[in-house]
Amino acid sequence: MQNLPKIFTQKLEKIFSKEELEIIYSWYSLKKRQVSFRVNTLKSSNEEIESILHKENIKFQKISYLTNWYKLIDWLEKDLWNLDIFTEWKIYLQWITSQFIWEIVQKDFKNQDLKILDLTASPGWKTSHISAIMQNYWEIIANELNTIRIEKLNFTINRQWCTNIKVIHWDARNLKNLFPNWYFDLIIADLPCSAEWRINLNNEKSYLFLQKPWINEKNYKIQKDILKNTVDLLKIWWSLIYSTCTIDPRENEAIIHFLLSNYKDLVIEEINDIFENENIKKYIKKWIKSFDKYIYNSQVSKTIRIIPSQETEWFFIAKIKKLENL
Ligand SMILES: C[S@@+](CC[C@H](N)C(=O)[O-])C[C@H]1O[C@@H](n2cnc3c(N)ncnc32)[C@H](O)[C@@H]1O
Repeated sequence: MQNLPKIFTQKLEKIFSKEELEIIYSWYSLKKRQVSFRVNTLKSSNEEIESILHKENIKFQKISYLTNWYKLIDWLEKDLWNLDIFTEWKIYLQWITSQFIWEIVQKDFKNQDLKILDLTASPGWKTSHISAIMQNYWEIIANELNTIRIEKLNFTINRQWCTNIKVIHWDARNLKNLFPNWYFDLIIADLPCSAEWRINLNNEKSYLFLQKPWINEKNYKIQKDILKNTVDLLKIWWSLIYSTCTIDPRENEAIIHFLLSNYKDLVIEEINDIFENENIKKYIKKWIKSFDKYIYNSQVSKTIRIIPSQETEWFFIAKIKKLENL
C-alpha cells in the first residue's frame, strides 16, 4: 500500500498477518466506506424507517446480527440529509462497533436499578445508544472535559430525547473526588486515543498526526491516569468496558496489561458471543502477545480487536470485571 505513510505500514506489518493486511489494505483503498445508522427507538421503529427508505427508493440492508442497525447499499451519507427521519433524529449515523458495548454487557443486566458512568462521552454515540435501549430507564452519568464537545453531547442527547442522561463537565482523571467508591454498576471507558482509524488515503491531512511519534505514549498515559482514578468507583462483581478506535497496542493491550498488573481484583472476561457471528468472526484479530519489547499478560487473549472491512470498523474492546478484594 504505497500511499500509506511508511511509519504506519511498518506498524501494521508488525501487528497483523499477511491475510489480515490484505483485508486492511483493501479497506484503505475503498472509494466509499460503509455508511451505517441506528434506528433511534426513543423516536421511531425499524418498521417506520424501513417503510420510509423504501418509499424514497434508498437501498439499505439490515445488519442481521444487530437489533436496530442498518447499512446503506451504494448510497451515501448525504443522501439521507434531507430526509425527515434524519433531521428529526429518528435515525443516527453511527458505526456498528458502538453496538458491541451493549451486546457484551446486556447479559449482566436483568432489569435491576443500574447506575452507569460514561467517562468520556462526547459526541454521545454510545451513551445515547444505551439510553435508547433502556428506553430512558436507569441512570447514566455522561462525563466530558472539553467545553465545545459538551455542547455536542448535550445536542445529541436532547435531539434524541434521551432523558435519563445527566451530563457532567469534569476531568475524568479526578472523578474519584465526585463519587463514592463502588458507586457504579457499569463504567464505559471509551477513552481518548490516537484514533488511527481516521487515516484516509484521499486526504493527506488525515495522517499528519503520524508525524508526532510520541502520540501513542501520550494517550497511553492519559488512558492510564483516567483508569487509575476510576477503578475504585466500580462495584464489586460489575464491569468496566474499555474500548478505543485506534490500532496501536500501547493504547490497547498495554492498558489491559497495566490494569492486570496493578489491580489484583480485576479480571478480563470472555466476550465471545456476538463475535462468534460469521459476519464478523473473520474480521477478528487473534490476540497480540507482545509488541516491541513488551510481553502482555495472557488474559489479554480475552480482549477483542476488530479489523476494518466492508462490514466492520477498527475497534478494540475488553470487558474488565471487578472481584472481591481478598
Ligand atoms: C473517543 S471520544 C469519546 C467518544 C464517545 N464515547 C462516543 O461514543 O461518542 C473521547 C472523548 O474524551 C474527551 N476527553 C479527553 N480527555 C478527557 C478527560 N481528561 N476527561 C474527560 N473527557 C476527556 C474528548 O474531548 C473526547 O470527547
